[in-house]
Amino acid sequence: MVAAAVEAGLPDGPVLELACGRSGSALALAAIGRAVTAVDISDVALGQLAVEARRRGLAARVECVLADASSYPVVRSRYAFVLATFYWDERAFRAACAGVRPGGLLGWEALAAGPGACGPYRIRHGELGARLPADFVVLDERQPDGRSTRLLARRQP
Ligand SMILES: C[S@@+](CC[C@H](N)C(=O)[O-])C[C@H]1O[C@@H](n2cnc3c(N)ncnc32)[C@H](O)[C@@H]1O
Repeated sequence: MVAAAVEAGLPDGPVLELACGRSGSALALAAIGRAVTAVDISDVALGQLAVEARRRGLAARVECVLADASSYPVVRSRYAFVLATFYWDERAFRAACAGVRPGGLLGWEALAAGPGACGPYRIRHGELGARLPADFVVLDERQPDGRSTRLLARRQP
């Protein structure tokens, strides 16, 4: 997701990652100079992320926030890039979209729903793009391995 966002053209500015886990993405973004706010509901995962950020000398650029992503108060139009991987929550998705600044990117990957694969943490391929606000343009929407669905979109400047 990070490589795709960088390749698509990531404008300057801070990054928000929701449901980050131990987050290779947050570390990769911090390593290229981004200030990342990393939100997760697991103190264990955040603790591991914080340790790794310190080990790599990136602690100053990774803010770990213990919070429920579905009710996290995302600041509107603040972030150059908002991402979540292997997580789905409709409220978090809406807040994430609102948090992207004009010209910024939204990246989202979730487990795909389909025959024999359903549940609250899954979404059908194509629905991420369909749920975007009108001022977003889909740059890429694919099923990388058939099990997940991945979206990269830009909010129009
Ligand atoms: C499958 S892991 C994915 C972690 C990471 N994004 C990745 O791709 O490696 C799902 C993560 O979502 C977090 N999570 C689940 N529900 C959450 C919620 N309501 N708010 C914030 N984080 C949540 C879990 O703690 C876990 O770290």
